[in-house]
Amino acid sequence: MAAALKIAPSILAADFARLGEEVRAVDAAGADYIHIDVMDGHFVPNITLGPHVVKALRPHSTKPFDVHLMIQPADPYIEAFAAAGSDIITVHVEAGPHLDRSLQLIRALGRKAGVTMNPATSPAAIEYVLDQVDLVLVMSVNPGFGGQKLIPAAVDKIRRVRAMIGERPIELEVDGGITPENVGAVAAAGADVIVAGSAIFASGDYPSAIADLRRRAHAARASV
Ligand code: DX5
Ligand code: ZN
Repeated sequence: MAAALKIAPSILAADFARLGEEVRAVDAAGADYIHIDVMDGHFVPNITLGPHVVKALRPHSTKPFDVHLMIQPADPYIEAFAAAGSDIITVHVEAGPHLDRSLQLIRALGRKAGVTMNPATSPAAIEYVLDQVDLVLVMSVNPGFGGQKLIPAAVDKIRRVRAMIGERPIELEVDGGITPENVGAVAAAGADVIVAGSAIFASGDYPSAIADLRRRAHAARASV
């Protein structure tokens, strides 16, 4: 049985000069999670924000902060992101040799642990940590930038990860290139947390964009 469908606006596509206001706006518009992309200019070819900004944003929303770490190494910074108010902390399997340790650390800090993998990485990479995670994120673009096109092979990967999860209480999230046109395909394949940056922030009407993604994802799930 899949979990309730959630929409997680990625603030990477927000106006960074008005970040607090943007977080309040998507919270009020019906976001379930606030997706925060952390990039280090090393693991990915872009730089965004750190724990200080997460902390500054915390008073602007009561929704869970879904923090996607695209940094290498991740371990030295996990405690700071937890203290800043992250609810879910997701690390990449490619970011270090000790994924098991990273996930243990996140849970020891009382946060939900997420694991993710780049498009070229096999889902087999997460097989032995499935009992240590609360969320699996399938990247549907190469991480680093918003506004890219969904890589079609991600849909099959979502299906495979959904089967691997089985009855475990793990949320399956998809991130990158989600549009009203393809959200049905990823939801039907088994994604239950939908990250969307451009599709929401470039829409000009956050409540309608979130409601539209939710409606299409629900309809596609119901038809499976
Ligand atoms: C990419 C980030 C995504 C990105 C999604 O590295 O992890 O969260 O912001 O943005 P869109 O929805 O525009 O592809
Ligand atoms: Zn992300």
